[in-house]
Amino acid sequence: MNKKVAVVTGSSSGIGAATVRLFAAKGYDVVVNFSRNEDAAQVVVDECRALGAEVLLHRADVVDDAQCRALAEAVEKRWGRCDALVNNAGTTKFVAAANLEGLSAQDFHDIYAVNVIGAYQMIRALAPLMKRHPGVGIVNVSSIASVSGIGSSVAYMASKGALNAMTFGLARALAPEIRVNAVGPGMVETPWLKNGLGAERYEATRQGYMKSSPLHATIQAEDVADACFWLCDGARKTTGEFMLVDSGRTRFTLA
Ligand SMILES: NC(=O)c1ccc[n+]([C@@H]2O[C@H](COP(=O)([O-])OP(=O)(O)OC[C@H]3O[C@@H](n4cnc5c(N)ncnc54)[C@H](OP(=O)(O)O)[C@@H]3O)[C@@H](O)[C@H]2O)c1
Repeated sequence: MNKKVAVVTGSSSGIGAATVRLFAAKGYDVVVNFSRNEDAAQVVVDECRALGAEVLLHRADVVDDAQCRALAEAVEKRWGRCDALVNNAGTTKFVAAANLEGLSAQDFHDIYAVNVIGAYQMIRALAPLMKRHPGVGIVNVSSIASVSGIGSSVAYMASKGALNAMTFGLARALAPEIRVNAVGPGMVETPWLKNGLGAERYEATRQGYMKSSPLHATIQAEDVADACFWLCDGARKTTGEFMLVDSGRTRFTLA
């Protein structure tokens, strides 16, 4: 009854899957969330159960406020508490920044709907439950794109910048009960970039990233999971922080 509970959005793949597995390994009960890929989500559920967690598999598209609220209600009904929320679900469109005609207003709306509004709706839905146990943490998964001007598209960069600003605003508004922080991953080896760039460009980007970052390494999903877990479960005096997880590339190579 006293186990902590973590919700990780978009946990059927990549960073979200690694993060929800880490929470399970650390003794939390967890929610595995997905919007489309139930088979992949079910694999993550089985992995979390094998690690000793009680798991709720919950389909919810974070774009839909009613689905966010239904997820929060399911958590309240099952456990009556929520100690950690990782807003990881994200989307993009791959369009070169110089290709101004390549992005429509609808593209901006679609990307903001998931990356900004989706995170806001999840926070709004879960905040009352989270406030019952002061000290709990929310992490928004942002990107180096928010601060470097490099990323899959200008709409994506702008959405992650907005997510950072939202993190700072909600860190003030939800204190002292809830801490709100953001992580900024660099190039993470997940299906996201592999699918978006295609095999050849992906490998060239990977090599370039390793060469140009001080730590000579791309990022693994588990590296981001470590940061998310620490910001939620530790970091007792940290709120409104944006933490890079990028092998030092943004500060020391691009500066
Ligand atoms: N990979 C990188 O290099 C990188 C770098 C910086 C930041 N990030 C950020 O990290 C996060 C995760 O990326 P990833 O690399 O792990 O990508 P990924 O492997 O493609 O996983 C994306 C996850 O988001 C879920 N998702 C997408 N739209 C959703 C929605 N509307 N509602 C609920 N879930 C949704 C997907 O589930 P379904 O398929 O079931 O919908 C999937 O579980 C994103 O926010 C991304 O911007 C990634």
